[in-house]
Amino acid sequence: VTIDLSREEAEIPPSLYGIFFEEITHSGDGGLYAEMIRNRGFEDGTLPSGTVLKDGKAVAKPLHCYSNDSINHFSIAWNDSLFMESWEVKCVSDTRPPFYEITEVKPLNNATPHALFIDLGASASDVWVVNDGYWGIAVTEGQRYNFQFYLFTEELKNTVVTAALLDCEEQIVVSKNFQIERDGSWNHYEGAFTVDTTANDLRFALLLPHKGKVYIDFVSMFPENTFCGHKNGLREDVAGMLRDLRPDFVRWPGGCIVEGLTMDNRIKWKETIGDIVKRPGEYNLWGYRSTYGFGYHEFLQFCEDIDADGLFVCNAGMSCLFRNGDYWEEENRIDNLIQDALDAVEYALGDTTTVYGKRRAENGHAAPFPLKYVEVGNENVGLRYVKNYNRFYKAIKEKYPQIEVVCALMFSPYIQEAEKIDILDPHYYETAGWFYNNADVYDKLPDDIPYKIYVGEYAAIGRPSLYSSLAEAAYLTGVERNADKVQMVSYAPLIENAAHGKDHLLVLKNDSVYGRTNYYVLKMFSENRPDVNLHTDLKPASPEPVFRTNGFIGLGTNNTEAQFKDLKVIVNGEEIYTSGWSDFVDKWTIIRGDWKMEGNLLSQSQKGIDALAILEDREFDDCTIELKAKKISGTEG
Ligand code: AHR
Repeated sequence: VTIDLSREEAEIPPSLYGIFFEEITHSGDGGLYAEMIRNRGFEDGTLPSGTVLKDGKAVAKPLHCYSNDSINHFSIAWNDSLFMESWEVKCVSDTRPPFYEITEVKPLNNATPHALFIDLGASASDVWVVNDGYWGIAVTEGQRYNFQFYLFTEELKNTVVTAALLDCEEQIVVSKNFQIERDGSWNHYEGAFTVDTTANDLRFALLLPHKGKVYIDFVSMFPENTFCGHKNGLREDVAGMLRDLRPDFVRWPGGCIVEGLTMDNRIKWKETIGDIVKRPGEYNLWGYRSTYGFGYHEFLQFCEDIDADGLFVCNAGMSCLFRNGDYWEEENRIDNLIQDALDAVEYALGDTTTVYGKRRAENGHAAPFPLKYVEVGNENVGLRYVKNYNRFYKAIKEKYPQIEVVCALMFSPYIQEAEKIDILDPHYYETAGWFYNNADVYDKLPDDIPYKIYVGEYAAIGRPSLYSSLAEAAYLTGVERNADKVQMVSYAPLIENAAHGKDHLLVLKNDSVYGRTNYYVLKMFSENRPDVNLHTDLKPASPEPVFRTNGFIGLGTNNTEAQFKDLKVIVNGEEIYTSGWSDFVDKWTIIRGDWKMEGNLLSQSQKGIDALAILEDREFDDCTIELKAKKISGTEG
């Protein structure tokens, strides 16, 4: 290795390392957000319009495009028990359950119409209403926990209700009594527990007398100590791990949930601000309903707290087409979405004489927040998107020239149709092998590329290991080397609750959090940022490439609409490549003998015929090469 100290190359911009937050695998509710009561408003059974339950999860009813085998086989089952997710209602000394139901008869407010009704008179003993929290409630000795709940009753045997924490043997750890109003209206009760034990398997309970009728709603508990001390705050340990990555920007709210299962299911930022009791929450396409207690305001506050810039992502007029979602075409509906995005910027940056700047001040923050980027859509790669993107871009730039607009086209061929791109956001979910082999992927970018690149999502798929973390590290060296073009990068997904485990950067339980090896890779890169690259010559030990190929092999159909998933390359029976789970291919090349056929190529990272990239570098004499993939649309081939 020769390093030339006199030859400076690409500078490293301060924006390079950031974090990507999306509500997935309970990263927010049951994760970063410090709420300890799960399904606090009894709303978890509310599914988005235009969806039905299939195998316990909401899916979009078939509306448009993309053929899918399962489309006609929805079982339209409604599961009322979702409304009682994590709750239990039981008699203290009688095995017969009391009568209870989830009802819309007495809404606490219009946004959260459901409440728990209990006919206590039908019970033989007092009644416990118990919540498991996020797979157990964890407390620390000496710490204080603030709780609240709403009750509505006209008749109750006596006026005392007890709030308590129970241990796993149903013994009371700590409790507090409340005098209850029997005035036939909703009343708010709040209190605090200071515990003298450390445990992670407690449950929250309300003890009710066994005569009368009662409605219960919005039961909530937070630790007194939250990150930076905010009332509707974040877990100190989890937020601290994120802060320790020293991110320069934070992206919110995602990810696919920006698109939603349907347009109606997209994230609507205006529903995520203000009084948490009145936030409706949303069922997200990752299979559960979240409260959006960690909403737009909290995201901006977190940016300020950790000295990062905000990157807000808005819906671009289409829900997740890959999940059979719908889209809007009418100009006025797109106008409304553009206005929504402008309002979001106003909420962050506008002074208090503006409508949304005033709302921000009312929500407790008069000064502007550090919002710097707006991304239009997520992983939207088609022509319909570009049409909308051009309109969003113009409107945002006209009103807020300082905002950098991120385009979600990845490396789609439709880039040509975009009138102007500040920043482009390609995503890479690939094997560890791919990351090793493509550490130089950005060396190949043209010098005059007319936009900056923000790698919004990357991850070596499969359970993170030292091997895959090193592969990501190899890739990041390529990012840094080309940091004049690749100006921002964020790993995804960020956080998982261990009860919903996948392969994310941070793993947490109710009482602990740890980073996987790739968290520490990222931390190391972020903490040791160079100012500038120095010219480096790397001479391989063997000057000859080990592998070389004489040709190409590809996979396709003779139908340009064809799409493939799950591409595998098998050489002499050995699987040498598997594409990312989210990869799809609809541009293709077929070569047979001296005959070559090419179609459009499109994948998450614009290398759709993944086999080509790999085989190009290798020599395979006398061998069998197989390509296998699932064809998900297209007719012949
Ligand atoms: O990170 C999980 C998902 O992967 C994101 O929501 C989406 O943008 C990507 O395809």
